Amino acid sequence: VKRKPYVAGNWKMNLDRRAAVSLATAVRTGLQGDAAVDVAVFPPFVYLEEVVRAVAGSGVAVGAQDVCDQPSGAFTGEVSAAMLLDIGAKVAIVGHSERRHVYGESEELCGRKLRAALAVGLEVILCVGETIEERQSQRTEKVVASQLSKGLVGVPANQLSKVTLAYEPVWAIGTGLNATAAQASEVHGYLRGLLSGLYSPAAADAMRIQYGGSVKPENARELLTARDVDGALVGGASLKPESFLAIVRYR
Ligand code: PGA
Repeated sequence: VKRKPYVAGNWKMNLDRRAAVSLATAVRTGLQGDAAVDVAVFPPFVYLEEVVRAVAGSGVAVGAQDVCDQPSGAFTGEVSAAMLLDIGAKVAIVGHSERRHVYGESEELCGRKLRAALAVGLEVILCVGETIEERQSQRTEKVVASQLSKGLVGVPANQLSKVTLAYEPVWAIGTGLNATAAQASEVHGYLRGLLSGLYSPAAADAMRIQYGGSVKPENARELLTARDVDGALVGGASLKPESFLAIVRYR
């Protein structure tokens, strides 16, 4: 199977309204006619609707950085999957390391969020990744295996095409210290093997697995052409159109 590369920009808690619209517009303009790579941007919740408007009719998808695990009701401060779909978002990120490690989200909560997103028809990027302590104590495979299987609990094979994985080693996020292409390929290949066991070889083969963690124009080509790497989830370098577009055009 030839997997289409998928590059996503996670803006995190950055930019203001004007800068968000201007970045989205620049990405849209810069990509005109380029359909070789799937592209999505993930603004803060409050700017989602305006960014959806700014990229309407282009190939750029818009998604949310997080989503509530519950459909509606008394959940102060939360945003439901149906609300996201309602304003034109197509995707939600689930299990980003900052959600897991800064806000204490459990693997079970990430699984519920993923199922809540799929239930309304959103696509999902499920993030997994080990901390530096976990890597140094040879626990990387154990950690990502648990995050993967708990994240995908209850997801039937026919929903798997709505899911993208992102391998994001915590030690590489925002540090400037990216994983090497070999390190990324090793974990991506391991994840694909797990998917093959959890679902089927064909499902594993079709699954896109993004790498995330200090991806920048200078390392994009090496990382994105590595075996089993099908794109990138980009944080810092997605905040400037030039660097994000250079990553999209990594070839
Ligand atoms: P970074 O962030 O590119 O700034 O390292 C990646 C991410 O957190 O998705």
